Amino acid sequence: MRALQLAFLLCSLPSLLALKTQDWKTCPQSAFCRRGRALAARATEAGSSWKSPYSVDPASVAIVPNEASFSAAVTSSIYPDIKFQLDLYVLQDGVVRVRMDEVDGLRKRYDETASWALIADPKVSSEVKWTVGKKDVRAVYGDLSVVVQFAPLKVALLRNNQEEIVLNGGGLLHMEHFRTKRQPPPLDDGDSDQEVLEVEKNLAAWFEGEEDMWWEETFKSWTDSKPKGKYLNMFNRSLYINYDTGPESLSIDIDFPHHGHLYGIPQHATLLDLPTTSGADPVYDEPYRLYNADVFEYLASSPMSLYGSIPLLYAHSATGATVGVFHVVGSETWIDVAHPSKDASHTHWVSESGILDTFLLPGPSPAAVAAQYARLTGTPALPAHWALGYHQCRWNYVSSDDVRGVQRRFDKEDIPVDVFWLDIEYAEEHKYFIWDKKTFPDPVDMINDVEAIGRKMVVIIDPHLKRASNYPIYKEASDIDVLVKKPDGEGEFEGWCWTGSSSWVDFFNPKSWGWWKTLFKTTPSAGGKYSWVDSTENVGIWNDMNEPSIFNGPEITMQKDAVHYGGWEHRDVHNINGMLFSNQTWQALYERSDPPKRPFVLTRSFFAGSQRFGAMWTGDNLGTWEHMDVGLKMVLANNLGGMSFSGADVGGFFGNPEPEMLIRWYQLGAFFPFFRAHAHIDTKRREPYLLDEPYKSMLRDIIRLRYKLLPVWYTAFRETSVTGSPVLRPQFFVFPGDERGASIDDQFYVGSSGLLVKPVTIKGATETTVYLSDKQVSNVECIYPAAF
Ligand code: NOJ
Repeated sequence: MRALQLAFLLCSLPSLLALKTQDWKTCPQSAFCRRGRALAARATEAGSSWKSPYSVDPASVAIVPNEASFSAAVTSSIYPDIKFQLDLYVLQDGVVRVRMDEVDGLRKRYDETASWALIADPKVSSEVKWTVGKKDVRAVYGDLSVVVQFAPLKVALLRNNQEEIVLNGGGLLHMEHFRTKRQPPPLDDGDSDQEVLEVEKNLAAWFEGEEDMWWEETFKSWTDSKPKGKYLNMFNRSLYINYDTGPESLSIDIDFPHHGHLYGIPQHATLLDLPTTSGADPVYDEPYRLYNADVFEYLASSPMSLYGSIPLLYAHSATGATVGVFHVVGSETWIDVAHPSKDASHTHWVSESGILDTFLLPGPSPAAVAAQYARLTGTPALPAHWALGYHQCRWNYVSSDDVRGVQRRFDKEDIPVDVFWLDIEYAEEHKYFIWDKKTFPDPVDMINDVEAIGRKMVVIIDPHLKRASNYPIYKEASDIDVLVKKPDGEGEFEGWCWTGSSSWVDFFNPKSWGWWKTLFKTTPSAGGKYSWVDSTENVGIWNDMNEPSIFNGPEITMQKDAVHYGGWEHRDVHNINGMLFSNQTWQALYERSDPPKRPFVLTRSFFAGSQRFGAMWTGDNLGTWEHMDVGLKMVLANNLGGMSFSGADVGGFFGNPEPEMLIRWYQLGAFFPFFRAHAHIDTKRREPYLLDEPYKSMLRDIIRLRYKLLPVWYTAFRETSVTGSPVLRPQFFVFPGDERGASIDDQFYVGSSGLLVKPVTIKGATETTVYLSDKQVSNVECIYPAAF
């Protein structure tokens, strides 16, 4: 492989900004996470006497003829009356899907996450040989097999008879069933009521622990009412259930007995090779959290939640084999990670609600895992060529003349740029779509001025709608009844964001989809309905704040008992919510012109499948060296999670970077798939042409280098849009058999081009070391000297 070595250099002061953590829950502050970890602690304490209470009823095993799928009844010895069903499918590419749900429960668990994340119902193989034994069921296909052990329930994927992925091997499977506070324990014939009560209580206490905030939960000043029973009646027109339905969390352990490195589950500000959170001497005390959140000023090393969640994990072995797990849950999820030995990994996933729907991806290479995941959730959309150029953004370019002035300066200084962005201040009172005519009196002329020289504009549209009767977008949404509802399921949910008092479109409601498309049409709509005649068919859209961010909500987001279409609580769909917004925006832009043009949509919040709808960025980073450095690791992890079109705010969102830092940031950002400079409203202007020499010329050179390499980027994007292999590839991905490269996350490859990039993210550095795998050393060519 030909490797092109890059190293850049120059000096600065890191900005020091206050870091916020107290607004977001830790595991001990989240009842279901606490319960999940308590379960794991009891299992550890019990040692070998710990046994999963779940087992398959052998008599119920049903193999679907000519198909690689089977189903079976599952029970738990703790609650013998509660029924579960296990379904297992072997897909055509060898991926195994494992599903388990409660049967005839007090209400239905949320089971629609896969319908949002997957591109289609995956095709089941017909090439599997089943054997049903007394103790297990086995499906064999090629060198792979899957074994479902009946008691205790355990599912394992094997290659050449070696266990690669094991579900419930440690007995932490627990699907909390819906129940009422008054529900009596089940009775067995022959036992006295009292005896049964005692046995049940002891067993449940041993396994489940105490009732811990099953019915209601508080965090700071917020109370989560967990009111599910009531809405069942209102939306599904089924029986009215006049009591709470309590806890519904899902816990499962997933082990990789022969894989010592774990990557993925973005997005977290941490190393690519995930540091441990449990077991002996964990690096972090807290599990990794997946709960989309507007964590501005986030920590540069933390398992805390950030804006997006992709429950996809790669497990990689010293011998170069890779497998993966895609755990399709849209509710808040915490993941503990441990290495019981150097060459093995243990993970424990605890989600607040939903069914078990887990895909075991057999690999055996990193590229095969990426392809298996892409076949499920889709490949990244191929961006328009212009979108791979340099994007200039700040909060805010304040007027049409400001935009024109910035464009003129770029041209005068001969610095290439393709896209100018407008943040929220273009919109009158932050009523998106509506230009503030005081400062943007001629929006279409301004956009045309930018487009006249082949450039494009991107304008922000956030999901919160100002609750003002003179705001046509809110008015129409309210009239057609597509807004998220309050916990009582009746009135419109109301919260605070940039616009003040706001409501949110419920994109789970199919009625919202057609309506949202009409808003982006650039020609007048029939019947006086709103359309964006004040824009053009080329304008790209930036979807921000879509976790959703709600300034007065718990953890700066929507309360969990707010109600979406179908009666589902926000808790069930929280992590999917942001993806539906960018999905519908993407569809709207696609249908805006005939023939369609490739849309450009940037989203802050994302979920599995978001890669089909455009780009993402890593949110509100700080202008510090640590953030620059971790930004690269985050972009690499996002790439592994399918989100190839990803970048971080170049320059850092907060703070005023010194020239050295800014140069370094551009050097890094020019090698992010999405290359955009952005800055907070309180920062000083820092467009590249504002720097003194020699820095200005350095920035010009870096941006020009991006343009010289555009064919490389476009080719890499084309490849990912076909295969799913990421645009940015970490060392282990390109050289899986080289264990020394398994934890390297400070250099990367661009697609299959052989371009190896080693950015410098250390202040004052004048040299750096590039790691070359043994197979590479004979053929290295540098396109930049180590210093200049
Ligand atoms: C938060 C976003 O993360 C940031 O990039 C943007 O500038 C502000 N919202 C204002 O829209």
